[in-house]
Amino acid sequence: MISNNNFNASMKKGLFISFEGGEGVGKSTQINLLKQFLVKKKNKVISTREPGGTKEGEYIRKFLVSGDKNAWDAYSEALIFNALRREHINKLIGPAIRNGEIVLCDRYVDSTIVYQGLVGQINRKKLLNLHETYCYNLYPDLTLFLDLNPMVGLERTKNRNNKNENRFEKLGLDYHQKILDGFNFLYNKFPKRIIKIDASQTKDVISDNINYHVSELLNIND
Ligand code: TYD
Repeated sequence: MISNNNFNASMKKGLFISFEGGEGVGKSTQINLLKQFLVKKKNKVISTREPGGTKEGEYIRKFLVSGDKNAWDAYSEALIFNALRREHINKLIGPAIRNGEIVLCDRYVDSTIVYQGLVGQINRKKLLNLHETYCYNLYPDLTLFLDLNPMVGLERTKNRNNKNENRFEKLGLDYHQKILDGFNFLYNKFPKRIIKIDASQTKDVISDNINYHVSELLNIND
């Protein structure tokens, strides 16, 4: 028997969309714009983020995204991101999609595969196993990968409100180029699930492009 707070992928009926990409690519702006678009079309939508999303996750988030750049090793990080993700699925993502809602999530499993795996050098199979064992092997229906030159992205993060959340930004351009290469690797591997969006365009052009892809998935006609 499935307990209330355990997610069972076969019970899924909503839609789960993740946003991925490097730093400063404009994920949160685009999530807000997509949310407005979908709400106008009478959908129930929640937006959330990783690390975080739950009360406990948001509390632990600050230890992950701030402080010394070498504060954690990749394995510890991977375990924490998975623990927070499991809570996130149990408490928020799972119930929302079971309830027929659309979930927009700023980062999800692909970030772990790229940051801790392809760049952090943890064997990808080990990470996929963790996802399968502890996170119900739940993948988004659609992943929007915002593709932007890391030099432009890092420049944008300098103007952010929350200057404390800069642990990953401190890691330099080479690191962030590897992150971009990692997302491109996943995009080539999963071309059906992952759509690449040119994030160097204006915010409205990017948003129109995203609305087009999501509308296709939802069969929304204007
Ligand atoms: P976030 O604040 O979304 O970054 P940004 O707004 O700069 O795009 O996420 C914080 C950092 O956490 C980000 O640099 C990537 C990292 N991260 C991982 O390393 N692994 C993960 O599984 C997740 C979800 C995030």
